Amino acid sequence: MNSNRCRAAILISGSGSNLQAFIDQVAGQQLELDIVQVISNRLDAFGLTRASKAGIATHCLLHDQFADRESFDRALARELDDARPDLLILAGFMRILSPWFVAHYNGRILNIHPALLPAYPGLNTHQRVLDAGEQWHGSTVHFVTEQLDGGPGVLQGRLLVAADEAAADLARRVQAVEHQIYPATAAMFASGRLEYRAGAAWLDGERLQQPVVRDF
Ligand code: GRF
Repeated sequence: MNSNRCRAAILISGSGSNLQAFIDQVAGQQLELDIVQVISNRLDAFGLTRASKAGIATHCLLHDQFADRESFDRALARELDDARPDLLILAGFMRILSPWFVAHYNGRILNIHPALLPAYPGLNTHQRVLDAGEQWHGSTVHFVTEQLDGGPGVLQGRLLVAADEAAADLARRVQAVEHQIYPATAAMFASGRLEYRAGAAWLDGERLQQPVVRDF
């Protein structure tokens, strides 16, 4: 590990295909950061297996063993802080974070949401997009603030919804986009090009009024 490189911790709850994209890009030297830890709140998260295979330290912290949201978050932060992360990457981490946790890592948490935020926050986005007959769909990488799915967007990957597309197919296509835009955003942060300041995302010294959009 290089001591100057950005130290990233990745939080997961499930399959971890985004985690895998990070692992692959770091291994292939397309992404310059170190994944110092992977934490899951579910024992059966396949992402834990992916991380172990890659030789990354893993930890599982079960939220149902804590009295309330903040005590889980404080235990999570204790675990994370031992690994001294510069950046937290939420990759399918199915937990709402407490204001305490968000403040503790102020401006250092990224999330990816499978929709073109601010459209379609919340769950089940692919089906909702299809039901609404939308032309465009995609995914958004954003900084995490106290507002669920509401922090400033950085990078959006956008694609055209195909005629008669099934939700599962659309989900697959959106995930393939995620596997590109999420490591790309983390790379911007790791190199110092991207930062969170005064409630906004700044890229190359300019305040982003809206996320950068890439079409796929
Ligand atoms: C992704 O689609 C992401 O947008 C959402 O959760 C999903 C995680 O998938 N936040 P995976 O576990 O990375 O495969």
